[in-house]
Amino acid sequence: MNETLERWQSRRAFILAVTGAAVGLGNIWRFPYMTGENGGAAFLLLYVVFVALLGLPMMMAEIMIGRAGRRSPMQALAFLADEAGVSPLWRWLGLFGAMTTFFILSFYSVVSGWSIEYLVGAVNGDFVGRSAPQIGSGFEAFLLDPLRMTFNHTLFMLLTMSVVAAGINSGLEKLNNVMMPLLYLILLVLGGYAVTTAGFGEAMHWLFTPDLAAIDLTVVLNAMGHAFFTLAVGACALMAYGAYMPDDQSLPRAVFAVALLDIAVALLSGIAIFSVVFSHGLDPTEGPGLMFVTLPVAFSGLPGGQLWLGAFFLLLLVATWTSSINLAEPMVAMLVGRGWRRGRAATLIGALVWLVGLLSVLSFSSLKDVHWFVGMNFFALVTTVPPDIFLPIGGLLIAIFAVWRMPKEAAISALGVSPGRFVIWRTLVRYVSIPLTAIVLLSSLI
Ligand code: PFF
Repeated sequence: MNETLERWQSRRAFILAVTGAAVGLGNIWRFPYMTGENGGAAFLLLYVVFVALLGLPMMMAEIMIGRAGRRSPMQALAFLADEAGVSPLWRWLGLFGAMTTFFILSFYSVVSGWSIEYLVGAVNGDFVGRSAPQIGSGFEAFLLDPLRMTFNHTLFMLLTMSVVAAGINSGLEKLNNVMMPLLYLILLVLGGYAVTTAGFGEAMHWLFTPDLAAIDLTVVLNAMGHAFFTLAVGACALMAYGAYMPDDQSLPRAVFAVALLDIAVALLSGIAIFSVVFSHGLDPTEGPGLMFVTLPVAFSGLPGGQLWLGAFFLLLLVATWTSSINLAEPMVAMLVGRGWRRGRAATLIGALVWLVGLLSVLSFSSLKDVHWFVGMNFFALVTTVPPDIFLPIGGLLIAIFAVWRMPKEAAISALGVSPGRFVIWRTLVRYVSIPLTAIVLLSSLI
């Protein structure tokens, strides 16, 4: 397969695209509930450490491979392995990544569908004047309604695949350019609102005063998995975006900007959500339903509350949309690289992901008690194993390929750094990121 000639039209477009991939459910939905379930500030601290030591260097490795290969992940790895004269088996890493994005997208779409439902509900004023138990049972009733959930899941898959089908410049780039600034705007407004609530002080305490005794191996593994998930690292999805990166852009600078933005968004939405949670004496350890129950409760009695609530779910929808197109792109690019038309490739991939997503939909009703693996139903399984296990494994392999298999000159030129900085980065990846990931993974497997 030949090199792709498509490019992001500007440096800004590349940064927005990668930020769009990074900022999503991970920041707004998963970060708050994982923090709630894993002891608050201690989890946050570990997550930031992992972003710095693993996420950033590995993100550079992943995008660098895409940029050097200028093909879809599987084809880029095959091409680079061939050039370097190393095992052709490396191409399968691209397929492993595609499988990871496939499963993540299947639940991603279902949860994003919830935000469509809640956005519409907020706009209609459905939550006005309702009590906490009423709102809680409303969420449960929604989860027990596979038809409504399937409808929203279908809508979200259509939104995603129509953008991917439109291509890099007229699809992905356009969406990111419009949606990302909108997202920051909504978030800043919501953050400003959080400061005025009674729970703000408690939320700050909960997020920023770590209790180190709360850290155990599970918390460490979850924080590591979350660092990968939130930065979108380890699934070769950023590799796909790297293939379209302009030649004259500094990769490290772009990656730093993205990581900072990603942490900032997580913190701002954490502050907003927990301020609301504590203002109303709600339970921060509620789990995946956290924002879908607590936020409508909190806003139900406020003047203009529905507007804030609608803004929140709009924020979530915008963020997930730009992430889901990143999840779909590598699979579609792989077929396009084999001569498929983009529209067809997007239709096929979209249909398959949609089908598997139905298993997540049914995990709240008829398949609730069907356990696929150590007591987990399908939804519990796909929201845990691909993010917390597959992404770190993928990231580990990507990093190994980047620092031990790729020729040094090719790596330096694709990273766009001086040889001195290259050595610093490579040393960090070889002796910190790779061993740390391997240790955490192994100890949790044992
Ligand atoms: N980073 C996204 C989020 O935080 O929601 C999720 C994600 C996107 C994970 C793309 C993996 C990926 F390849």
